[in-house]
Amino acid sequence: MKNIAIFASGSGSNAENIIQYFQKTQAARVKMILTNNPNAYVLERAQKYQIPTIVFDRSSFYQTRKILDKLTENRIDLVVLAGFLWLVPDYLIQAFPGRIINIHPALLPKYGGKGMYGDKVHQAVLENKEVQSGITIHFVNEVYDEGETILQATCPIVPEDTPKTLAQKIHQLEYQYFPKVIEDLLLKQKN
Ligand code: GRF
Repeated sequence: MKNIAIFASGSGSNAENIIQYFQKTQAARVKMILTNNPNAYVLERAQKYQIPTIVFDRSSFYQTRKILDKLTENRIDLVVLAGFLWLVPDYLIQAFPGRIINIHPALLPKYGGKGMYGDKVHQAVLENKEVQSGITIHFVNEVYDEGETILQATCPIVPEDTPKTLAQKIHQLEYQYFPKVIEDLLLKQKN
């Protein structure tokens, strides 16, 4: 049984979708949910499934090894960022080489980088009159949204789209693809 840790800063609908997906398999489970935001709705979702949670602040994340210790203690095989807004510190990237992935609600390399999250991404996409958008699932490296792409999926944009309707289309793609990408990566891991 492989162990997944999810980092999320907000609602956590992707986290819940991933939890549900792996409840149906014996291959892996979501072992813990971590957040920087004590008010994040993801904490309530985790409680519903009785998944342990950790809330951390900036200094424990960037200046101590507490989070790394928790991931190690829980024998985490894959770290999944699902709407997590802080830059992942180098020590974590080095401790989990090729084992930290993120989902971004646009087709990188466009519409990425610091500050590009949530509706800001969709607004920018619509302002630029793009004809499509989509999702990018990628490995995490030291720079926001710049690690190697694992999968992209697209959706069309129609003139009537608003940031809200576009976000809904993107979420559907995320729910469809993210758990499967996670499962594939875990199956390919050597140990
Ligand atoms: C998703 O659109 C994800 O791509 C982005 O943040 C959003 C998180 O949504 N990084 P949720 O918290 O999973 O509902």
